[in-house]
Amino acid sequence: MKIELVLNGRPAALDVRSDEMLLEALRRSGLPSVRETCAIGVCGACTVLMDGEPVSGCLTLAATVAGREITTVEGLDASDPVLRAFNEAHAFQCGWCTPGFILTAKAIRPGDDIRAALGGNLCRCGCYVKIEEAVRACVS
Ligand code: FES
Ligand code: FES
Repeated sequence: MKIELVLNGRPAALDVRSDEMLLEALRRSGLPSVRETCAIGVCGACTVLMDGEPVSGCLTLAATVAGREITTVEGLDASDPVLRAFNEAHAFQCGWCTPGFILTAKAIRPGDDIRAALGGNLCRCGCYVKIEEAVRACVS
């Protein structure tokens, strides 16, 4: 089926299967920052923003995002404050988890519990101290 949505700030149409997850549909559309690790909603590597809120691409049926606004890291401007904060804090090693952390961080507001907000994202390289430093720098 064909669905229409706003993808990274632009109107877009995606051909998706009725059983296809958003993670797969976005990767097939040339957006490799949306990553699969656990595929069961535990690691956060597949995080995207749906209408500004983080969701797991591996748990979201692609067909259900018709009419919604979906943002991946590819849609962020190079001057995005969260991107810059992660770079300046060197908040990554291999970078596999980084897109998911950045998109989760974009939804964190002043006064939010940062550790709790990041609790759905895992980093196998163990960069949590630097990630928290980056998020504190751009949220406060
Ligand atoms: S791949 Fe979706 S949460 Fe891990
Ligand atoms: S930087 Fe390697 S998994 Fe997080």
